[in-house]
Amino acid sequence: ENIYVGVDLGGTAIKVGICNEEGQLLHTYEGPTETDKGVDTVINNIEKYVRLIVEQSPFTWDQLAGVGAGVAGFTNVREGIIILAPNIGFRDVPIRKILEERLGKPVKIDNDANVAALGEAWSGAGKGIDNCVCFTLGTGVGGGIIINGKIYQGFSGMAGELGHISVVPDLEAIQCGCGKMGCLETVSSATGIIRMANDAVERGDRTSLALEENIAAKTVFDAAKAGDEVALRIVNRASFYLGKAMAAVAAVLNPERFILGGGVSKAGDILFNEVKEVYAKLAPEPLQQGVEIVPAKLGNDAGIVGAAGLHIRS
Ligand code: BGC
Ligand code: NA
Ligand code: ZN
Repeated sequence: ENIYVGVDLGGTAIKVGICNEEGQLLHTYEGPTETDKGVDTVINNIEKYVRLIVEQSPFTWDQLAGVGAGVAGFTNVREGIIILAPNIGFRDVPIRKILEERLGKPVKIDNDANVAALGEAWSGAGKGIDNCVCFTLGTGVGGGIIINGKIYQGFSGMAGELGHISVVPDLEAIQCGCGKMGCLETVSSATGIIRMANDAVERGDRTSLALEENIAAKTVFDAAKAGDEVALRIVNRASFYLGKAMAAVAAVLNPERFILGGGVSKAGDILFNEVKEVYAKLAPEPLQQGVEIVPAKLGNDAGIVGAAGLHIRS
């Protein structure tokens, strides 16, 4: 029996998992990315975790037919190069070649959110749906476009960088990790939410957040749910720009389903209700007919499953 290892290379953690050919996830393992230690350490960590998970499983190294990696950044899929991954600190890293040499196995790479979308389309919230668009709301904001059941790659494999749609008006815009101003990611990522919360506290806004030592995105959502108005304003701002970006995406692609995943999506109704409201307000009526906005199903595993799926579903 052949197995595939899917790797989810994120800014904070590297998650790896063993999948069979049916896309069943059999084992998972997670370790720190250690971005602060530089490119070599991060690549060593990937190799280490891939070898470890196979060793700890009932499978042999020979059964490993391929490794797929989803990378949080602009990836040139055809060349297997990470062009720019601000949250990992990678620029022009030929990761496919490096990993193939180190592991002696075929390696495929794609963007982390693209593979998460593929995972969801394969066996999650997009199962049975041909055209869907996924947003992953985490450290950054990722996007994945599934057209006719496959990842839409674009000219050089960088389609679906939905976090870098510029949505915030000039006067309120701040610079994004990509270097440009007003990207969705600056307001709707966990990082953006935390930044807005810290700004509010520094400004002296009256909020329970001022009592927190270390504000996480969840802290902000919890405060908003408990009735903190400053926190609610921040959550609504994150939701507003997401809904606005979704309306724009709908006008271009007319997907049947929007799937929202990543840590921030766990906020639940407080986020989804506002996003749906904004979408209803901004998307033309015909683009709302039959369109659903749903939470991701595979949670943290979507990226791993989709990354393994790069060898099976492409
Ligand atoms: C990167 C995307 C990535 C997303 C989520 C963004 O900053 O540009 O490539 O998919 O973060 O990790
Ligand atoms: Na993407
Ligand atoms: Zn950007």
